[in-house]
Amino acid sequence: MLLFKKIKDLQNHLSTLTGTIGFVPTMGALHTGHISLIAKSKEENEFTVCSIFVNPLQFNNTSDLQKYPRTLPSDMELLVSAGCDILFAPDASEMYPDTKEPELKFEVGALDSVFEGALRPGHFKGVAIVVHKFFMIVNPSNAYFGLKDYQQCMLIKKLVTDLKLPIVLHFEATLRENDGLAMSSRNTRLSDIARHKAIRIYEALQYAQAHYRTQNITMLEQRCKSWLDEEPLYRTEYFNIVNAETLLPLHSLAEPAVALCAAFVDEVRLIDNLVLN
Ligand code: PAJ
Repeated sequence: MLLFKKIKDLQNHLSTLTGTIGFVPTMGALHTGHISLIAKSKEENEFTVCSIFVNPLQFNNTSDLQKYPRTLPSDMELLVSAGCDILFAPDASEMYPDTKEPELKFEVGALDSVFEGALRPGHFKGVAIVVHKFFMIVNPSNAYFGLKDYQQCMLIKKLVTDLKLPIVLHFEATLRENDGLAMSSRNTRLSDIARHKAIRIYEALQYAQAHYRTQNITMLEQRCKSWLDEEPLYRTEYFNIVNAETLLPLHSLAEPAVALCAAFVDEVRLIDNLVLN
């Protein structure tokens, strides 16, 4: 695997390649969920580029940014075993050389005012800026994202559609631990007891999937949220069943539906979702 830290060096190398490029953007602290995206890209492309960059623009709190795990040596080992061809791991000064905040040339729109957008102001704008910049640098044929971050997938879809970028997006299923907990770099911060309780989120999502056609949606959302919060370690921020494309309230069962959940489990904030149909 080749490692590049400078945009120019990466681009010089990419210009020598012939064949499709699959791109997997990450912030590192890689786990099997990330590696499943690399595997998918390898299956479908001649070359796979992974980026590792802890993007300061998408953190709305500096202590979260500082606490974000940085594990480049073990990430590189995982990427080498997965057969990744190229790793791009720039510094912040390489990505954002100007002191003024980079501008985004598209409207994030309603996605910014619901769920993760509402609770983490500026987060999606930061994600959109960095992903757009990576797309311009790498110019991939295909790009791979995990449905684990469902709202992020919808944002990237809007970015590519609105800016008419010639990139095919692939949204891949969430990889889960054996008991159903969605894999996340945050899971390592859970205490043993909190880790044990964390599977309630997936259980509530599955309950919603089993019952949303037959129960009143508002009552079902409330039931799932209260059931999570019955557990003293939980503080549920939202549990909602919404239109899977717009993330707005469901008006009919004929619409595509997704259940979205965010909860603090003993101070660790976890998000998960399940497409219902
Ligand atoms: P990060 O949290 O590192 O995630 C990188 C990619 O891995 C995302 O597309 C995410 O949805 C996917 N992923 C995470 N957990 C997963 C799981 N359990 N199963 C499958 N895929 C999973 O998301 C980001 O980084 C950043 O916002 C980024 C897009 C890189 C922009 O900075």
